[in-house]
Amino acid sequence: MNGTVLVNTDWVQGKINKNIYGQFAEHLGRCIYEGLWVGEDSAIPNNKGIRTDVVEALKKLSIPVLRWPGGCFADEYHWKDGIGPKEARKRMVNTHWGGVVENNHFGTHEFFELCEMLGAEPYICGNVGSGTVQEMSEWVEYMTFDGESPMAKWRQENGREKPWKLTYFGVGNENWGCGGNMRPEYYADLYRRYQTYARNYGDNKLYKIAGGPNVDDYRWTEVLMREAGHLLDGLSLHNYTIPGNWEKKQQALGFGEAQWFETMKKSLYMDELITRHSAIMDRYDPAKRVGLIVDEWGTWFLHEPGTNPGFLYQQNSLRDAFVAGLHLHIFHKHHERVQMTNIAQMVNVLQAMILTEGSKMVLTPTYHVFEMFKVHQDADVLAANVTSGTYEYEGEQIPQVSASVTRQQNGHIHMSLCNVHPGAEAVLKVELRGLEAPARVGGRVLTAGDMQAHNTFAQPEQIKPEEFTAYKQTSSGLELTLPPMSVVVLTLEP
Ligand code: AHR
Repeated sequence: MNGTVLVNTDWVQGKINKNIYGQFAEHLGRCIYEGLWVGEDSAIPNNKGIRTDVVEALKKLSIPVLRWPGGCFADEYHWKDGIGPKEARKRMVNTHWGGVVENNHFGTHEFFELCEMLGAEPYICGNVGSGTVQEMSEWVEYMTFDGESPMAKWRQENGREKPWKLTYFGVGNENWGCGGNMRPEYYADLYRRYQTYARNYGDNKLYKIAGGPNVDDYRWTEVLMREAGHLLDGLSLHNYTIPGNWEKKQQALGFGEAQWFETMKKSLYMDELITRHSAIMDRYDPAKRVGLIVDEWGTWFLHEPGTNPGFLYQQNSLRDAFVAGLHLHIFHKHHERVQMTNIAQMVNVLQAMILTEGSKMVLTPTYHVFEMFKVHQDADVLAANVTSGTYEYEGEQIPQVSASVTRQQNGHIHMSLCNVHPGAEAVLKVELRGLEAPARVGGRVLTAGDMQAHNTFAQPEQIKPEEFTAYKQTSSGLELTLPPMSVVVLTLEP
């Protein structure tokens, strides 16, 4: 036995907001165009221009919320270019991402259509960097006003009679960088001004999210909370997991144990970031009214050889599955402050769920973690104390096992576990306090013998969840053996 998980099943610590399982789709590379949108005339099967295979696969993730249109693209996006007859829509240059032509065929109406198909709530990011207050204000009016107004009339002329429901609205993106290179003092003032005119029409109530800090820019959080805290519902935070560093990124494949260890360690850094940003927020907002919205996170590797560097297309291996699992556990832990996260990005960009090549599609290990972990959405967090051995590499160490335990409304308990050690099993004693022996136990495991394991268009099922059987029930709970490099989700039915 090299570890224990002590679960107090009658001690509920809080609830996981399902929006922690949110996604992000930007006009970047092949995320929107090809990955999601192929157009009504495409030979690729589609529904109103949105590809059917990708939507069907994504529906299995129960995506709660989808952020769009960026990212850096959001602060150059002018929404009026993306409505009305497609042939008349403005063709612009996507200066941030590869300098390619953006034909604006995927705009506001198409985005809401996609959200409806996925059953996801929309999260729209408005343009502060290069847009006007009036432009942002009119976008909100166009989308949400039910009555007689110039924007509502225009929406109706474009085929949508009733307004859409829109809750999540971002007031700019990365305004310390691609969103305008601002100082926090200046952005805080702009936030106050822009959000004033993003109105709540009828019973549509916006949840307004301010552009937040980059990684460990604690001063940004301090200034925003001090100057505008009372006017925001959410504050965003961005942090990517980048083995090597920003200037010297590495390939997604072809790594060794040193990079494996570094990636795990850098994933765990999210815990420190949230703790420290939350501590600042607590001083201004002790009641935790303002959510921390981690609306960009995930791995960032070098683009795949032979692809456009501006498209941020990368492969996705078992290593990415751990980045997902470790982050989701950290978000669970901070369920009181973290109210939404959006992994970057949903299709074909950075740490994607799905990769496409023409009409072909492949599910990534990250997709499988999101599918396995979806049982945690909106579930109660149970108190769980994990003691495991450590995973040591060249004098540094991290915990070998990360775990999270939740209970759904129907009483089913789910325990997810990540054994990050590439060479050692984790044998765990699970004590279930306050629970009769469960009537049924079942589980699934995502693992492989090779840390580079990934799916390709030629071999799309190299890595996928399998049934997990390495457990036995005991008088006080369970004994588990987690294989090296494994992500496991167990279900305990009372
Ligand atoms: O997700 C890719 C980019 O990363 C986003 O556009 C930007 O917000 C961030 O820098």
